[in-house]
Formats: sequence, C-alpha cells, structure tokens
Amino acid sequence: MGRYEQQRQFLKSNFLEFKHIKTDKAKGLPKPPTVKPYDSSSDIVNLPDVKEEIVKRQTIYGCIKERRSTRLYSEESLTIDELSYLLWATQGITGTNKGGLILRTVPCSGATHTFETYLFIMRIEGLQQGVYRYLPEDHKLLFMHELSEIDNKIDAITLDQPFVPNFAKRAAVVFAWSTTPYRSEWKYDISAHKKILIDVGHVCQNLYLASESVDAGACAIGIYDQKLIDEVLGLDGDEEFVLYLGAVGKKRT
Ligand SMILES: Cc1cc2nc3c(=O)[nH]c(=O)nc-3n(C[C@H](O)[C@H](O)[C@H](O)COP(=O)(O)O)c2cc1C
Repeated sequence: MGRYEQQRQFLKSNFLEFKHIKTDKAKGLPKPPTVKPYDSSSDIVNLPDVKEEIVKRQTIYGCIKERRSTRLYSEESLTIDELSYLLWATQGITGTNKGGLILRTVPCSGATHTFETYLFIMRIEGLQQGVYRYLPEDHKLLFMHELSEIDNKIDAITLDQPFVPNFAKRAAVVFAWSTTPYRSEWKYDISAHKKILIDVGHVCQNLYLASESVDAGACAIGIYDQKLIDEVLGLDGDEEFVLYLGAVGKKRT
C-alpha cells in the first residue's frame, strides 16, 4: 500500500471490522479516569463563574459570519473572566447523561472526552505567566510551572509558521489540547483514533466562536514540534500527547 492509501484508510469508517472486536470495555477491564487526576496540594487558581454578560457580540450568526483565523494580536491582555469563558466554551462540563457520563459544551463520540487542556499563559490579567492545566470538574486552573522566555518557547514549539511567521508567541494565551487515547480505545478500540481527531475539531471551533464573541481572535495551530511540546508539558508522548493548539489574543486594529 502506498503512502496515501495507508493514510486514507485511517479516514474511513472501520465499524464493520470493529463490530467483531471484543473491546476492553466488553472484557470488563476497568474504565480509565475521564479526567486526569491531580494532587490537591498543587497550586490551584480559582476561575470566576462564567456569566452570559461576558459576551459582547451577541448573535451566533455574527460570530459565525465574522470568524476568521486571527494571527495579528494587540498588546492588550485578556481578562481572567474572558479566559474562564473560553475554557468553559471549549471543555466546560455542563451535565451528565442517564448513564452518568460527563457531558461538556462540545459534542464528543460516546462522551469519551479524551482531552486535557494545557495553557501557555502570556498576558492574562491577574495571572502570572507560565504553564497551567484546566481542571474541568472544578472549573479551576492548576499552575504547573513557570517557563523562562515563554514566548520564545512557544515560537520554537510552533515551528516555521507559513502564514504569519512567529505569530503564536505574540498571543495572550496558547491552548494545547492533549489526548489520552485509551479513554476512547477502551470503548472503541480500533475505531477510537478517527473519532478523537473529529472530536478535537469541535473543541477548537468553539474556541474560535467564543473568542469572536468577546472581540478576541483565535487561530488553530496544527504545525508544531510534537516532542518539544510533550516534553515541556511533561507528557509521556504515548499514553498522553498533544494533538492540537489554538492561539488567542485581542485583535490588532
Ligand atoms: C487543523 C487545522 C490546522 C491549522 N494549522 C494552522 C497553523 O499551524 N498555522 C496557521 O497559521 N493556521 C493554521 N490553521 C488555520 C487555517 O490556515 C485557516 O483556518 C484557513 O486558512 C482558513 O482561514 P479562516 O480560518 O480565516 O477561514 C489551521 C486550521 C486547521 C483547521
């Protein structure tokens, strides 16, 4: 099979094949945690409650119509209320279904929600620069560590950007979504991986639309150094690794 053919197979549905596989779930193996555990003695930052009044551009029509990938950012910081809203819009927990599965602001295959959100914070009012992890169950942030020359580190992580070189280092915050594939593999086995990629698209689309609604701009980032970002975030690169990034900042006018 040629290079393309092999990769194209991945894009196709393999549900008929999957039907004959006894998944780890069917074998009765324990369900993996649905969110990454954390040490409660960590440095935790409370996030403000999300209120509808945060939204400046009121209509979904306007947000969809005006949405563009934004790569030119002003020096202005985002407020912590805005950050709280963006986190809620992308991965916030909004309920549980009848089976007790956690539901979020984004749809997700079988509510498997394999993602964790890491933040490279550069300009958020009231927050020190550094690397954070979102704790969706508590709607809080876990401060992971400082990062010296954080903007240059972001620049190295985002490689040679083809549209606006070095734009990500000038964002107010860069979101990095990791996946823990086993959360989906446990249930969907060989069908998990295509689903995970589709799932993460929904997350980033909400980042775009929510950013528009607070007069900020977002840009998806698929070009990045896998090894470097996993190292910076302390991920093992196999059980958990980064899948996608999104930069956000106030628009330069
Ligand atoms: C999966 C994906 C990866 C992307 N990666 C990058 C990237 O690394 N750098 C960048 O500048 N734009 C990136 N983009 C943004 C696209 O270039 C942009 O969506 C496209 O040019 C259409 O423009 P629009 O979003 O303004 O409509 C990415 C978009 C998607 C959906």
